[in-house]
Amino acid sequence: MLDQLQALQTQALADLNGVNSRADLEAWDSQYIGKKGQLTQMLRNMGSLSKEERPVFGKMANDVKGVLESAYIERERLISEQELAQDLESGAVDITLPGRPNPTGGLHPSTRTLRRFYDIWGDMGFQVYQSRDIETDDMNFTQLNIPPHHPARDMQDTFYTTTPNVILRTHTSAGQIRAMRELGGDGTKPLRVVLPGMCYRFEQITVRSEVQFHQMEGIAIGKNIRMSDLKGTITEFIRRFFSPTAKTRFRASYFPFTEPSMEIDVECFLCGGEGCRVCKHSGWLEIAGSGMIHPTVLRNGGYDPNEWSGFAFGMGPERMTLLKHGISDIRYFWANDLRFLEQF
Ligand code: PHE
Repeated sequence: MLDQLQALQTQALADLNGVNSRADLEAWDSQYIGKKGQLTQMLRNMGSLSKEERPVFGKMANDVKGVLESAYIERERLISEQELAQDLESGAVDITLPGRPNPTGGLHPSTRTLRRFYDIWGDMGFQVYQSRDIETDDMNFTQLNIPPHHPARDMQDTFYTTTPNVILRTHTSAGQIRAMRELGGDGTKPLRVVLPGMCYRFEQITVRSEVQFHQMEGIAIGKNIRMSDLKGTITEFIRRFFSPTAKTRFRASYFPFTEPSMEIDVECFLCGGEGCRVCKHSGWLEIAGSGMIHPTVLRNGGYDPNEWSGFAFGMGPERMTLLKHGISDIRYFWANDLRFLEQF
């Protein structure tokens, strides 16, 4: 019997060496040490032994059971380790595969142009003032020397809101008075500000005009500011934005809030001044309105027009982006077509 026990242990341990899966381990367990296993079977048969043999056998059987149980535990640990290693290997990242695309967004071309504007105007001593999109009729028109029923109101078709006298600004000039009153120290401080922002006009959408568009207003107020300052400042800006050789033209015009007024043209990028479809065969493209701030507007902003003077201009970033990159249709800007936007 004792020999049988010994043989059982040797056999079981040898078998266990070949066990490499959880299923095989369970099978091994029931074959040897489980309820119906061989060892249990032998213990059941102990009754057939003599009184003297029984304790010797019992002790040895217990020892064998202990040996097999700890061998089982050790084997289970090994199998767990193998399983973990396998899991890690099968889930591992294959660094030779190409990476997953991770597209990053880009800045909208108008945003890029506006930022370029901030840089250039900042260099030239202008601070940025953010005015508001939703304006009063008073700020957008009346304070700018455009009283109710003035024919100049027809120059800019307006989006009205359901609140009386509250409109969407039709131009960034609407912020002029706010900037003067907030930053001018009651008409005591010189001023150099640019006012960027979205403007809205209830107009037919065409290749050249949209119902919403950015503008960048600029105002400079000081003592002895003259038309030549306006021309020099704008010319320098255009050189920096377009190219050092860009040609500029000033054309007499009319705005109620400036006197005198000028429109500013740059030479057509496409035909170099020869005349083409884009510039309507004039060789020039209009990019801004400007002029010397009207005395009434200065007064409305808190400045004494006998002592102070200034110039103002308003330019369209989309128009200028269009010129700079040779884009043929302004409607691309808000169409949200990635094929267009991704090119910038
Ligand atoms: N506000 C004018 C427009 O939108 C442009 C302008 C600004 C003209 C400042 C003169 C001075 O057409």
